[in-house]
Amino acid sequence: MSGKSIPPVDYLSWYVPRLKEQRPHDLSQSGFAYDWGVDTDSEKMLNFWTSGQDPAQWVADRYGVETNQVCVAHGACQSISLAILAALPENRPRAVGVEMPSFAVVSQSARLLGCDVIPYHRGPNEGPWTLNRKEILEILPKVGVLAMTPVMNPTGEMISEEDQQWLIEVTRAAGVNIVSDEVYLDAAKGTEFYRPMYELAENSISINSLTKTYGLGPIRFGWMIGAPELIQNAKNAFQNMQGLASAPTVSIAESVFSRLDEALGGIWKAREENLPKLMEVLHHHGIEWNPPPFGIFGAFSIGMDAVDAMARFGKPLGLLATPGGMFHSELKDYLRIAWGGSPESFEAAMPVLSQFLTSIQEGNA
Ligand SMILES: Cc1ncc(COP(=O)(O)O)c(C=O)c1O
Repeated sequence: MSGKSIPPVDYLSWYVPRLKEQRPHDLSQSGFAYDWGVDTDSEKMLNFWTSGQDPAQWVADRYGVETNQVCVAHGACQSISLAILAALPENRPRAVGVEMPSFAVVSQSARLLGCDVIPYHRGPNEGPWTLNRKEILEILPKVGVLAMTPVMNPTGEMISEEDQQWLIEVTRAAGVNIVSDEVYLDAAKGTEFYRPMYELAENSISINSLTKTYGLGPIRFGWMIGAPELIQNAKNAFQNMQGLASAPTVSIAESVFSRLDEALGGIWKAREENLPKLMEVLHHHGIEWNPPPFGIFGAFSIGMDAVDAMARFGKPLGLLATPGGMFHSELKDYLRIAWGGSPESFEAAMPVLSQFLTSIQEGNA
């Protein structure tokens, strides 16, 4: 795939112009809003990181792994391409099995890298979001990598322990590697749901970044963790495609790295304060929904195409939230709501969300 055949990422084409409108009630942010009070001395940031330490060392220390198990990159997005390249065995088909629903970058970057992409599904259905095991067994002989997002976007649902273990066993037996996008997983740290792939499977690369649970998307700092051989491949891919990491990115990351747990505490607090208010609005509109057990977003059906609903009813109300159709065609009636904003802004958005749901329900009546 090249030239004019490179497709846009539909989600970003939809989202970025709407984000720029700066709608007053923004429930679209899947990244946590946390004020780090970063001290920005630009001159200092132009030097490669100030302490002379290897950023891979900070990541290794935080996650309890060796430095040679860590490759630093620019965000999870870049890491997805690098990890796919690093994990594709030379002796297997140049094809990637991609979990659906998912963030479009996962499947589209694989296509741009010249891979065939074969979808497999976790859900969508009401109730538990379970893996379609039959589909996976069918595609395993045809792929070199399976890409997955344990904490799914847009639902916020964590893969079940049974499905995760099963996936590890069948991929291992088939000689297939796993690329696991774990950008939302750290919100589960300290709970039974925190099961990063790098701790469980040596045939995997776990991807993470400071964008989502740590609220530092603009600096584009991400990393991969995995077995040393796979990570060495990723480092080689990074050098070939990126050269060196951006010095300001690494400097800012360094200034917050030892404090990252502060943001995780903030996520639990935001959840405790904001989520009950959302549940009350949904209950009032007869929408019964079990929120995921951790994190700052989830998605539920609103009974009509959410892109249309945002255009007809959301925009005039100054409301922004993310349509589920951006992640899977079967989720087009779903709306993803994020509750990681300040308690004041979230509270102010609730009557607006309620009005939005009323408009939909009156329109559907
Ligand atoms: C599943 C998933 N992975 C990665 C990203 C982007 O991460 P980063 O900003 O670190 O590139 C997103 C953003 O929406 C996402 O939903």
